[in-house]
Amino acid sequence: MTIDNKLWGSDWQEVRREFSLDSAVAHLNHGSFGAVPVPVQKFQDELRRRVESNPMKSLSRDLRKQLDEARLASAKFLGADPYGFAFVHNATTGANSVLTSPILHAGDELLVTDQTYEAVKHAAERACQSNKARLVVAKVPLPTRDSEELVESIMAGGTKKTKLAIIDHIASPTGLVYPVKKLIEELHRRNVLVLVDAAHAPGMVDVNLDSLQPDFWTGNFHKWCCSPRGSAGLWVGEEHRKLIKPIIASWYYNEKYPDSFRWLGTDDYTSYLSVPEALRFMEALGWDRIRTHNRKLARYAREVVGSVPGMVPVMPEKDEELFEAMTLVQLPDGVADTEEKARALQARFGEELRIEAVPIAWNGHGYLRLSAQVYNAPGEFDRLAEGLPRILNRK
Ligand SMILES: Cc1ncc(COP(=O)(O)O)c(C=O)c1O
Repeated sequence: MTIDNKLWGSDWQEVRREFSLDSAVAHLNHGSFGAVPVPVQKFQDELRRRVESNPMKSLSRDLRKQLDEARLASAKFLGADPYGFAFVHNATTGANSVLTSPILHAGDELLVTDQTYEAVKHAAERACQSNKARLVVAKVPLPTRDSEELVESIMAGGTKKTKLAIIDHIASPTGLVYPVKKLIEELHRRNVLVLVDAAHAPGMVDVNLDSLQPDFWTGNFHKWCCSPRGSAGLWVGEEHRKLIKPIIASWYYNEKYPDSFRWLGTDDYTSYLSVPEALRFMEALGWDRIRTHNRKLARYAREVVGSVPGMVPVMPEKDEELFEAMTLVQLPDGVADTEEKARALQARFGEELRIEAVPIAWNGHGYLRLSAQVYNAPGEFDRLAEGLPRILNRK
């Protein structure tokens, strides 16, 4: 596979300059914490300046209308009924808000997968403990043959007692893109409620909640929409809105959803208000262009890093659609196969190679998850491929 630095076109350098990322570092892990473009940072700075110029007016009188406007724009981007949509600070909070609401009962089963994000799995465990429900973990094969195999492996974890399933749209340890629409349909056919953990989905793939019709959905704007950290959404289907309450009981706790989420105590709400600006920034670059760039570059990354001796690219047998802007390469046996070793390797990448990449210990193996975002270029993955043998040979 050949790819050149002009993948993005002649204006790639300009795109890169829109981010304040350290130019001496290759940032190959957008997936974990995102990156905020300079114009969006400035927008948020200005909002904060306005709050500081009159906190009383800003928080007590102006915020409500501003939040509603931002909420409407964000819901529209997701193809979602705005009455079902609330801002939350992150997908962890979104998932916890659902799991602490009275959905599970004694004897119920809660279905997750072995690719469920660890923090969300902890929230699921806690919900099971406090409701005397049972957690069932479906095993998803890796590499995965195709989307049918993904659906089958998850459905195999279901029983008559399954009340709720947590389905990733894009899984954290693998970057796999799940066929969520099909999964929701199949689970609904069996009367199972579905919480979609879409932490990575907004921006990386098209999201249309009207068409997906999950029961519950949570997703981040601060990853692939490049909005400031602390901006995420929770969407709840109409029939469940009476049940869902914020984890924190505050002033509007007794109001109906989503008003109950409006104010969860004094806080900096500017990350929510900056979401429409981040969406405008990305739209101006062009979502199709961004996604084409990211998809192609992620495949290039998998190929070039996967061809380093000892590394194994994780490829679906049939279905390339299962990966978008994040791809996966398996590390040699014994490398980063524990959480501790993975952290140490990450630090070595950062300090010795000046490359930010995320080794992941998962199911007894070590993997490298590689992210491709608009500000990345092929040369950065070449750098990783060149530096890897040095790091791997000095375990
Ligand atoms: C699948 C998945 N769910 C949830 C989260 C948590 O996101 P946050 O830290 O923004 O709450 C992540 C973070 O990477 C994730 O990948």
